[in-house]
Amino acid sequence: MKRWQPVSVLSDIRRGEVAGVRIGGREVVLWREDAPTPTLHAWEDRCPHRGMRLSFGFVRDDALGCLYHGWQFGGGARCRLIPAHPQVRVPASIHVQAYGVREHAGLAWVSMDGAEDFPAEGTGPGNVLPVRTLHVNAPVGVLRHVTGIAPDAGIAWHGPVGLAVHEPAAGQAMLHVVRVAAAQDVSPLALSRWAERLRDAVESGAATAAVMNELAAGERA
Ligand code: FES
Repeated sequence: MKRWQPVSVLSDIRRGEVAGVRIGGREVVLWREDAPTPTLHAWEDRCPHRGMRLSFGFVRDDALGCLYHGWQFGGGARCRLIPAHPQVRVPASIHVQAYGVREHAGLAWVSMDGAEDFPAEGTGPGNVLPVRTLHVNAPVGVLRHVTGIAPDAGIAWHGPVGLAVHEPAAGQAMLHVVRVAAAQDVSPLALSRWAERLRDAVESGAATAAVMNELAAGERA
């Protein structure tokens, strides 16, 4: 199914930063340019030279450099510099697999399978702040059910709090928590602790309704 998946809170990918994420068992590198307009990119986490993880690499202006031999990849995911042979014009065939990426609701959304239209419906208000991401040792379907995320949606809103999930690998889930920026009564620290309680309840098989009710009642301390 072609779809956009929320894979990271944006606070984990600031200007000039690199982060590795797993999506459905595949390794993806997210990185943001260190440039006046710092574009976010999502690529296969594998250097086309010798297979080094690009998430171990470094950002130089608007390019991502591989840690191993320093090949640099820029716009269009093409290699544009091989430091050992700086005079060589790099063939266009040397490039990284690039994926679709969008920034919305405090989250990075990735399309790995060619989904084009970004579904604005159901993804909530635009002025949203990231809170945190947690790993949950449970099937993503369980977490989607518990958090009330519809089958065709990427996020569920509970008042000013947004809960999103994605599947890093079979049987595992990542829970991403965001909040509406204007909701200043929502403490990020309290919300973070609430998310830990939800994770603990899901992983232990305990009842989750009471934890979710805390969210509905605004009890997040
Ligand atoms: S493995 Fe990446 S530059 Fe050699």
